[in-house]
Amino acid sequence: MMSELRLLDKTFSPYLNADEIALRVKHLAEDLERDYASRKVLFVSVLNGAFMFTSDLMKALDLSLEISFIKVSSYEGMASTGKVKEIIGLKNSVEGRHVIILEDIVDTGTTLLKIDEIFKSKNPASLEICTLLFKKSEFKGNTPPKYVGFEIPNKFVVGYGLDYDESGRNLSELYQLKE
Ligand code: IMP
Ligand code: MG
Repeated sequence: MMSELRLLDKTFSPYLNADEIALRVKHLAEDLERDYASRKVLFVSVLNGAFMFTSDLMKALDLSLEISFIKVSSYEGMASTGKVKEIIGLKNSVEGRHVIILEDIVDTGTTLLKIDEIFKSKNPASLEICTLLFKKSEFKGNTPPKYVGFEIPNKFVVGYGLDYDESGRNLSELYQLKE
């Protein structure tokens, strides 16, 4: 049973439990296996938030693939700063590859836009986004992510890799800020 959670100065309510997340991750893996059956995929996971999602999704996937990790930052505390720094950590060659970016959450899409721009300039054969969570109402971009775990309302969430001021990333479940 999930119960209310206190992190730093805020209280969070149970939102999605580990079984619900695992089931959705399994279905995402099935979608990807179907769409990429004959292609080798380069998964690019955006740290830190996507680490748990990446781990579970990769274990659920039966595909020929490579995994790479990158870092960007655009968020401090609970409000989007909109400031995206450079991408660091990309060692793999992207040209001619089928690339899927793995994100924990797409909110306004500022982060995604920047990543998308940088990757497109490296001439991949194809480029898609797979995100665990999508705050659709807040999205300001033109192209929404193709693979979405859960569309969620505009409420702050924490757990399963996502943090509130660096706390809560280790939780197996997702919690939502209590009003
Ligand atoms: P965007 O650039 O506005 O799309 O914000 C994306 C980034 O903001 C994500 O990668 C997260 O790090 C962070 N973020 C957005 N919403 C939440 C949330 O509800 N909880 C935790 N982090 C969030
Ligand atoms: Mg993130």
